[in-house]
Order: sequence, then C-alpha cells, then structure tokens
Amino acid sequence: MKLIGILTFLALASSAFAQLFPNTTGPPPPTISAHQVIDQSAPFRLQLLSHNKTLNNSFLSALHEGAALESLGFYPSTFDTDPYNTFKLNTSRIFCNYANGTEVPCGTPPSASNTTSGIPGTLIWDLPFESSANQTQLSYAPQVMQLVPRGISSNMAFAVILFYNEDEEFDGPTGVAFDEDGYMNLRDNVSNAAAFGPTKTYYRWYVCYGWFDDYIWSHLVWVYGPGRPDFPHCDKVGVKRVWA
Ligand SMILES: *[C@@H]1O[C@H](CO)[C@@H](O)[C@H](O)[C@H]1NC(C)=O
Ligand SMILES: *[C@@H]1O[C@H](CO)[C@@H](O)[C@H](O)[C@H]1NC(C)=O
Ligand SMILES: *[C@@H]1O[C@H](CO)[C@@H](O)[C@H](O)[C@H]1NC(C)=O
Ligand SMILES: *[C@@H]1O[C@H](CO)[C@@H](O)[C@H](O)[C@H]1NC(C)=O
Ligand SMILES: *[C@@H]1O[C@H](CO)[C@@H](O)[C@H](O)[C@H]1NC(C)=O
Ligand SMILES: *[C@@H]1O[C@H](CO)[C@@H](O)[C@H](O)[C@H]1NC(C)=O
Ligand SMILES: *[C@@H]1O[C@H](CO)[C@@H](O)[C@H](O)[C@H]1NC(C)=O
Ligand SMILES: *[C@@H]1O[C@H](CO)[C@@H](O)[C@H](O)[C@H]1NC(C)=O
Repeated sequence: MKLIGILTFLALASSAFAQLFPNTTGPPPPTISAHQVIDQSAPFRLQLLSHNKTLNNSFLSALHEGAALESLGFYPSTFDTDPYNTFKLNTSRIFCNYANGTEVPCGTPPSASNTTSGIPGTLIWDLPFESSANQTQLSYAPQVMQLVPRGISSNMAFAVILFYNEDEEFDGPTGVAFDEDGYMNLRDNVSNAAAFGPTKTYYRWYVCYGWFDDYIWSHLVWVYGPGRPDFPHCDKVGVKRVWA
C-alpha cells in the first residue's frame, strides 16, 4: 500500500512538474540577472459608493493623524480634485536577462494571473510640505498606504499613510488592486484550513466614525473576516478608482 502511495505521489508530482515546464526543445538558457521595473499609474481619486447618502459619491482624503502620518477617510467638503484626494498606484514587473542576450518578463507573477481583479500594487500619496528652499511653492514627498490593525481585540484595520521604510521586514505597504470596474480589492489564498486554497478577491471596506490614533474621523476601515466591523457607527462602502 505504501509503495502504491509513493508511486501515485511521484506520478502526480511529475505531471505537476511537466505543467510547470511545458514542452521545450532543451533546457532554458540560464538567467544571468533579473531586475524590477516599477510602473506608476496616472493620478486618480477614490470615490465611495454607499447606502449612506452623505458618503455616497464622496471622495476619500488623506486625513491628519500625526506628524507625516495620515489615514484615508471621509472629509465632508471635498468634491473637487485636490492634493489630499489624489493618489497613484505603483505596480512592479520583474524582467529576466538570459545569457543569449534576451530580456523577458520572469514567469507570470501570481498577482497578474487574474486580470479581472487587477494587478496588486502600492497606493501612493504625495505629502505636501513647505521646503526651506522655496517657501512660495509646495514640495511633495511620496508616502504609501498600509493597513494597520487596531490592536488585537478588534477585527478592523485602518488605512494609514506613512513613509515607506524598507528596513521593516514584516511591515510595508499593503498590496491593493483595482478590478475591471475600478473597485479597490485585496486578495489572498488562505481562506480555509488547507495550506493554500484558491486565490480569492475581497472588498471588505467600511467607513467607521471613531477614534484611530489621536483623531476622530470617518475612517476607511478594512474588516478581517466576513462579519461587520466592531465599531458601532460603520457603513459598508465600495471604493472606486476615478481618474483625476
Ligand atoms: C511534447 O513533446 C513531445 C515530444 O516531442 C510530444 O510527443 C508531445 O505531444 C508534446 N506535448 C505537448 C503538450 O505539446
Ligand atoms: C533567448 O532565451 C529566451 C528564454 O528561453 C527565449 O525566449 C528567447 O527566444 C531566446 N532568444 C534568442 C535570440 O535565442
Ligand atoms: C513609485 O513609483 C515611482 C515611479 O516609478 C518611483 O520613483 C517610486 O520610488 C515608487 N515608490 C514605491 C514605494 O514603490
Ligand atoms: C449613490 O449614488 C449613485 C450615483 O449617483 C446612485 O446611482 C445611487 O442610487 C446612490 N445610492 C444611494 C443608496 O443613494
Ligand atoms: C477573478 O476575480 C473575479 C472578481 O473578483 C472573480 O469573480 C473570479 O472568480 C476570479 N477568477 C479566478 C480564476 O480567480
Ligand atoms: C519659488 O517658486 C515660485 C513658484 O513656482 C517661483 O516663481 C520662484 O522662482 C521660485 N524661487 C526660487 C528661488 O526657486
Ligand atoms: C499562495 O500565496 C502565497 C503567498 O502569496 C504564495 O507564496 C503561494 O505560491 C500561493 N499559492 C498558490 C497555490 O497560489
Ligand atoms: C453617514 O456617514 C457619516 C460619515 O461617516 C456619519 O456621520 C453619519 O452618521 C452616517 N449617517 C447615518 C444615517 O448613519
């Protein structure tokens, strides 16, 4: 029985291997280097769709939370395009250089496999500041969006905007994508107890009135799991990309 099990395993493994490497006439030439190319989208705004008529059709803004720290949320009087409600998406592609001189994209990134959900990237916001060099003209410093959980007792995470710190191994920007209808989504492949399930796309955005860091705003919130957020005053929202 054991032997049959092993043989079955080997047969499955070799067919999986064959799928990874479709018919080629010989081994692929060795990769000599790989490099990343970052593509930045055109600027866009993030429009809310909600049953709450105050929120419906409004645009998310970067709201003050601290020194060079903001969060995404609803700000009552923003209907025109301004620096506080304009964002960009950085996506990246990896290219492989082969010994024969050819440069091609390295494989198919799993992130790009479902094009209807969009390609995940980093949400960028440019923080305006007065530079000492020229105080009559604002300068801009790019920051990134990262979902930050509100402690361990809550099922909510806040969409914080901060400077990207490459040294922080486990932190970093949250990968968001925009589907073919423009809706902002997150995805993963751990929806059940198996090691990896199919990759699924989620839209668990809410706007919740309440405290995050030092401020009360109507914050954009991501909810972990299918339930409602813990805060009492929350509205389900869709977040739609609208080109600026
Ligand atoms: C792979 O190559 C073998 C031998 O050339 C051929 O018999 C087989 O049909 C090919 N399979 C595919 C999927 O092209
Ligand atoms: C070089 O190798 C790559 C990877 O196998 C292949 O796609 C490409 O066609 C090759 N180019 C030339 C000029 O042989
Ligand atoms: C975003 O893209 C721009 C333009 O390619 C690049 O200068 C910047 O470093 C990128 N930022 C991040 C955090 O990826
Ligand atoms: C939200 O706004 C859209 C576009 O104006 C409209 O079609 C929709 O009916 C509104 N929803 C509600 C619940 O008011
Ligand atoms: C791709 O994403 C769409 C939208 O979320 C979803 O309906 C579809 O099932 C996904 N397809 C695959 C193969 O993951
Ligand atoms: C500062 O910026 C203003 C507005 O763009 C420009 O007119 C002025 O020449 C700049 N001054 C210096 C010293 O660069
Ligand atoms: C599931 O996601 C992880 C982390 O992104 C990835 O390393 C893995 O290849 C994925 N597995 C499948 C089967 O998609
Ligand atoms: C609609 O959302 C706004 C902003 O979060 C909130 O102040 C207001 O209480 C909500 N309205 C209702 C009826 O819940």
